[in-house]
Formats: sequence, structure tokens, C-alpha cells
Amino acid sequence: MLAERPRANEVARPRELSGGAGRSVNIGLLGMGVVGTGLLRALEAKGMRLEPRMGCYVRVKSVLVRDLDKQRELQVAVGLLTTRPEDVLGDPDVDIVVEVMGGEHPALEYILAAIEAGKHVVTADKEVVARHGRQILARAHQFGVQVRFEASVAGGIPIVAPLLRDLAANEVTSIRGIVNGTTNYILTRMAQQGLELGEALAEAQSLGYAEADPAKDVEGTDAACKLSILCALALGAWVKDTEIHREGITGLERRDLEYARELGYAIKLMAAAKNVDGVVYSGVYPALVPEESAIARVDGVLNAVEVETDLAGPLLFTGQGAGPSPTASALMADIIDVTAGTRLSTKAEKKVLYDEPAKVSKVTDLEAEYYLRLAVADKPQRLTDVRRRLRDHGVETSFAMFRELPQTESRVEVVVVTRRVKLDLVQEALSSMEKAGTVLEIGNVLRVEET
Ligand code: NAP
Ligand code: HSE
Repeated sequence: MLAERPRANEVARPRELSGGAGRSVNIGLLGMGVVGTGLLRALEAKGMRLEPRMGCYVRVKSVLVRDLDKQRELQVAVGLLTTRPEDVLGDPDVDIVVEVMGGEHPALEYILAAIEAGKHVVTADKEVVARHGRQILARAHQFGVQVRFEASVAGGIPIVAPLLRDLAANEVTSIRGIVNGTTNYILTRMAQQGLELGEALAEAQSLGYAEADPAKDVEGTDAACKLSILCALALGAWVKDTEIHREGITGLERRDLEYARELGYAIKLMAAAKNVDGVVYSGVYPALVPEESAIARVDGVLNAVEVETDLAGPLLFTGQGAGPSPTASALMADIIDVTAGTRLSTKAEKKVLYDEPAKVSKVTDLEAEYYLRLAVADKPQRLTDVRRRLRDHGVETSFAMFRELPQTESRVEVVVVTRRVKLDLVQEALSSMEKAGTVLEIGNVLRVEET
């Protein structure tokens, strides 16, 4: 079991890590999967070279795993691995706990126990930060330790520190981008090599990009957790990941990607949030992105985050969003800061901690253009019928085309792009068209992203 938590009057003293070359700082690692192994390799390869920067020698004291008998890619010293959390959390010699187990529980309990034992914490776990970040940061303030989570959003891209420190003087009005490497890899392989979703996912898993449960990637929950963190950092709004409109990529067919390309778009899993008159609208959704936009060219495991600011103007951060080395880069940045005693802007941290929860809404409450793929009977008037019916429901269209379906003679597919409209109007129009038999099946409804 865990070490007993100190009571308020016996708060553990936080570790003073800065200063004093030749000192050693001990890391307790929670998890040795893709990310934990990547970090161990990076520490081995670069630890000595980074000593002057960190002002100390970093040593991994213990590593928590579930299964001691598992075959591991990296051999570690006998006795380093443990399945007992108290060997890490209750060890007074451990200065920094690096949590790379993933998930919500017991990660939360272990992080809180580490903080309460006066240890600094570095984590890559977006789920625990998104769902419990406020509580964790408040506890860290109380116990005078640092909690850093650069690796929890967009892999190797520095985005947490820039938002908290470098852009602290700016008002951010919107933030959007691609924040899941697995789904971007899948969509790229489907679009460029014609792979099926399952085949591309298997590749992403073998490259170490996917979550232990890949449903979190393809159903958009991983991206929603990252967006929740970005909303807090960029917009000062704690939007729960469950309050974010969320659609994954499992409903996409390869022909959606083909039709999109014909129309001059790529399809990307977007994560977007914007503040409109004090309300934060957010969503994770596959969208048609104009081919000429920078985001459309972000392929494979790359991620991109676009930030609109008042002083610095628009900014685009891009780089590898998953994988052992980019994630190790972000973890190492946090470890270096903690060992060197560097803090992010405390003013910005306080804003994140103590700002009122924002008024929140879903991105689907804002107007957008929509791409519709509909199966209809193969009749001469099919395009005109569909457009007229949509117009009857207040949905104007800017483009329509039809395509024959392989091995189907009685039906064809109509692809329509609407003008800007709210989603509920589109949905009303489609369900009435389905009832009337104008549409035999709704293939897909996707947002078209503005440039
Ligand atoms: P992973 O390969 O599944 O590794 C998880 C590790 O944690 C394993 O070593 C596992 O032990 C250990 N573990 C899990 N639950 C445990 C428990 N209850 N008690 C003790 N040990 C436990 O996961 P990962 O890909 O490294 O990801 C870890 C975290 O980093 C996740 O939050 C993920 O979202 C985040 N992240 C991942 C990436 C990436 O590219 N993969 C990038 C950025 C952030 P065993 O080895 O014994 O099973
Ligand atoms: N599974 C995540 C992704 C890992 O693919 O983006 C990085 O957070």
C-alpha cells in the first residue's frame, strides 16, 4: 500500500533541487512502457551531457511496473523494477516522480501521494491532468512542489510552457489543431496509401503511437483530454473533456477521403476551441481542411497547434505528436526545469488555477459549412431533389456531385457541401429527407474547417 499521507500540520518539506554541481537527483518512474522506455533511453544517452544544464546528476532510483516477468525492450539493473508503489512513493530518496503509466486511476492517487511526500511530479498523462489538473496543481501549490505536464499534450511539441510562460502577456481567442498522432497517422495512410483504418491503426500501434486502449485515439477521447488542457492554459477555461463535442474517426470511409480530395480538402481530426463573447465553444471532430492550409499538410504522426493571440498574432506549433523520443524530449524538458529550479510563470499558473469556470458550449452551436455524403436512388433528378429538399429546411448548398457505387446499380451517392449553417438544421433536413425517401442512407456528415 501507499505511504500514509501527511496531515496538514506535518506537511513534507519540498525538495530544494537547484544549485550544487555534483549533486544527484533521484527519479522514481511510474511505468516502463513505450514512454517510460523512451525516457530511460534518453536519460542514458543524454544525462551526462545535460548535467551542467541541470546542475546535477540524474539517477533513476526505481521503476514501477505491473508485471516483473514481462519481456522488456530495455534491460535495466536488477532490483530497479518493482510492483510496489510504496517503493517509489514512500522512498525518501526519490526527488522527482515521473508518471508515465497512463489513465486516471491509480495515476491520480500516486501523483497526490508523491506531492504530499514533498516530491516534484512530471507526467505525460493527459487523462489525469485534464480530469484532475486543478486539484493536482492546487495540492502542488500547497506542498510547494512543481507538477509539470509538457508531454501530456502534442508529444514533442513545446506547447504547455509557451502558453504558460512565453505567451503569458497575450489574450488567446482561439486554439485549434491536430493533437492526436495516431489518428493523423491513420488518416494519412488511408488517404495516401489507401489502407483500411484497422491496418493503419495496427501500424500506429507497432510504432508506439497509440494509447494502451486505442479506442481513446480513434474515438477522440485522447484529443478531448488534450483540448481540455489547452482550454485551461490558453483560454483560462476549465472545460471538462466530457463537455467537449466529440466525434472520432471510426465513421470515416476511404471514399470520404477520396471525395474530399476531389473537392480540394484533406480530412483531419481537429481539436478546436474559441472564445466568442465570453463563451468557450469546443469540439473534437473529423473535418475537411482546405488543401492550401498549413494544417492540411501536417501528415503522419505530426501534430500542429494554431494559437490566435492579441500581441504575438497567429502562431503555429508543429512537430511529432507521439512516439518514445519526442515524448522523452518533452519529459526531459520538464525534468531539466525542475532540477534547475526553473518555474513557469506563477501568475499564469494562478490564472489557470483560480479563474472561474467558463461558460461552455459545443462547437456545433456555431455555424459551419458541412460536407454531406448521402445514398440516394439512381434517378435523373437526384441532385436537384436533394438540393431542393435541403433548401426547404433552410440549408443552402454551394456544391453537389454524384458518384456511382461499386456493385450497386439501384443507388448512387450524392456529395453536397452546404453554406454556413448550424448542425441541428442539417440534421433536421436529413432526417426528414430520410423519412420522405429522398435519401436512402446518410453516409457521413462532416464539418468543413475555415482557413
Ligand atoms: P504503455 O506502453 O501502455 O505503458 C504503461 C506502463 O505503465 C507499463 O510499463 C505498465 O506496466 C505500467 N502500468 C500501467 N498501469 C500500471 C499500474 N496500475 N501499476 C503499475 N504499473 C502500471 O503506455 P505509454 O504509451 O508508455 O503511455 C504512458 C502515458 O504517456 C499515457 O498517459 C499516454 O497517454 C502518455 N503519452 C504517450 C505517448 C506515446 O507516444 N505513446 C506520447 C505522449 C504521452 P507493465 O509494463 O508491467 O505492463
Ligand atoms: N496516443 C497519443 C497520440 C499519444 O497518438 O497522440 C500522444 O499523446
